[in-house]
Amino acid sequence: MSGRIPDRFIQDLLARTDILELIAARVELKRAGKEWKGCSPFTHEKTPSFFVSPTKQMYFDFSSGKNGNAIGFMMEHDRLSFVDAVEALAQMAGLEVPREGGQIDRLVLEGPLDALAVSQRYFRDQLRQSPESQAYLRERGVTAETAQGFGLGFAPDRWDGLAAHFTPATVAHAVSAGMLIEREGGGRPYDRFRGRIMFPIRDSRGRVIAYGGRTVIKDPAKYLNSPETPLFHKGRELYGLFEAKAARKAALPQVLVVEGYMDVVMLHQAGVTDAVATLGTATTRDHLQRLFRETPRIVFCFDGDAAGGRAAWRALEQALPELHGARECRFMFLPQGHDPDSLVQVEGSDAFQQRIKAATPLSTYLIDALSEQAPPTSIEGRARFVALAQPHLKRVPEGPFKLLLTDALAATARLSAEQFTDEAAAPPRVAATTAAPRSGRAGGQTPIIKGALRALLEKPALAERAQHVDALAAASLPGLGILTRAIDYFQNHPDATAAQLLESWRDSKEGEALMRVMAEPSLLDDDALAREFDDALHRLWRGIQRSRYTDLLNASTTRDLSDAEHQELNAIMRDLNARPAPRAE
Ligand code: UTP
Ligand code: MN
Repeated sequence: MSGRIPDRFIQDLLARTDILELIAARVELKRAGKEWKGCSPFTHEKTPSFFVSPTKQMYFDFSSGKNGNAIGFMMEHDRLSFVDAVEALAQMAGLEVPREGGQIDRLVLEGPLDALAVSQRYFRDQLRQSPESQAYLRERGVTAETAQGFGLGFAPDRWDGLAAHFTPATVAHAVSAGMLIEREGGGRPYDRFRGRIMFPIRDSRGRVIAYGGRTVIKDPAKYLNSPETPLFHKGRELYGLFEAKAARKAALPQVLVVEGYMDVVMLHQAGVTDAVATLGTATTRDHLQRLFRETPRIVFCFDGDAAGGRAAWRALEQALPELHGARECRFMFLPQGHDPDSLVQVEGSDAFQQRIKAATPLSTYLIDALSEQAPPTSIEGRARFVALAQPHLKRVPEGPFKLLLTDALAATARLSAEQFTDEAAAPPRVAATTAAPRSGRAGGQTPIIKGALRALLEKPALAERAQHVDALAAASLPGLGILTRAIDYFQNHPDATAAQLLESWRDSKEGEALMRVMAEPSLLDDDALAREFDDALHRLWRGIQRSRYTDLLNASTTRDLSDAEHQELNAIMRDLNARPAPRAE
């Protein structure tokens, strides 16, 4: 693999690329206020609902739900991988894409990512020098080519093997990357992974962000994962997704979700390159959302035992709310005593592909499972079936799939779809109004925070005017963290656009929340934006002061306040009195 593209270059490339120019060469656009408008290049719509914002340097397509910056557009429109999209834009801008990594000595150890790159090189060197670990891989059927492609490595059974590669100045990066563990009484941190075959976990750009390690010295923990770090969240990452995408030039037709590292590696080697694994956790909503961005079809692969059945049911429950549009889930169950790794080795890949093709659609699995719990063979059974089905159906988003699923559930209960939905709609009405904080509170943000964020994304220069950012960042209001981090970003990158911020948050929760806010076009002019921003920050600040004031007053009824607290109380009182109260709170 060639080295990674430095983030700095990607930011620079986005700053030099004009998304309007890029898209206008591919899509016919007309001016519409601050934005440009045209027919979606991704659907066959007749009424234009595709927008390009030169100020945000983003596009928003309301017909397909896609949106993104220039890189994202190239990925979607020209069906390119991330790296190829960057290459293509660089070529248009007349830039050469620099690569880093590979050479350990050239690496400047700036942070945990660099510490992981150092680790990666160390583990691979160790594998090359260890006949025993090579023999282990050979016995398991892993070819040298596969080991190379997945970047497999080896951590020798030592406490200071990797640790020795860091200096006192850089060791902290290795600790925060989860590769070394600090000693309780101080002293040099030691290797977390010992006596293990190392599976690097890569992010969507191919950067190593964590590891899974399989013991080859019979440690009771067969697999050990990196701990949660700022770079690595187990519930979000999928092992093999980068490799699966790299194996295909076009979008993934489907993704197969399996349990283990070895399953992914061996399936890939057998030609089933679309396999990914969750990392010792159940499938989460985050996993599903991430996968559905890459593919319309997810096939879950489970063991044929009771535990596999429970895991499948959990996956179904997570998947229901995600099933809109043409998205599809299927379930496949393996024969007892097999995992994908063992099965593909005895059956071969054709037979395995057949199993994938024959996987049970989610709707069938749901109806079968419910019918087993409440056999619809008597009136009582059918009534129970309806009651069991209701809460599941309610979680499916409106759309053709829901309609068809309703029909199928109704038919099983031998009701008409109308009767079934009447039945299904009656009791849970109350719940429906309290659930689903739909519009207005995207990502749990209050309208004030959202307003500030929207103004800031439209006009990043507003960040300069923000005061009390640290105090705001310390307050725990939902969504406030994203706002303060965005402010912080623009204060440090005064010329950046919203698209660049988004790029640095690619594939994170923050990035998704940001995207939702950005997708709402702002109709305000510059002055109004500034007023909205100032007003929102002022209100947030006052809210925080006011609750601090209340806390201090309450405290003063039970104990004597310290001098510092008295001063703080007076200062807040002066401040609250000095400025006009914000409107309507
Ligand atoms: P399995 O125990 O089924 O192992 O764990 P496996 O994948 O078949 O491993 P091999 O074939 O013996 O090498 C499945 C997955 O569960 C997680 C790992 O992600 C593993 O790949 N796991 C398992 C852990 O995180 N920790 C463990 O101790 C065991
Ligand atoms: Mn196995």
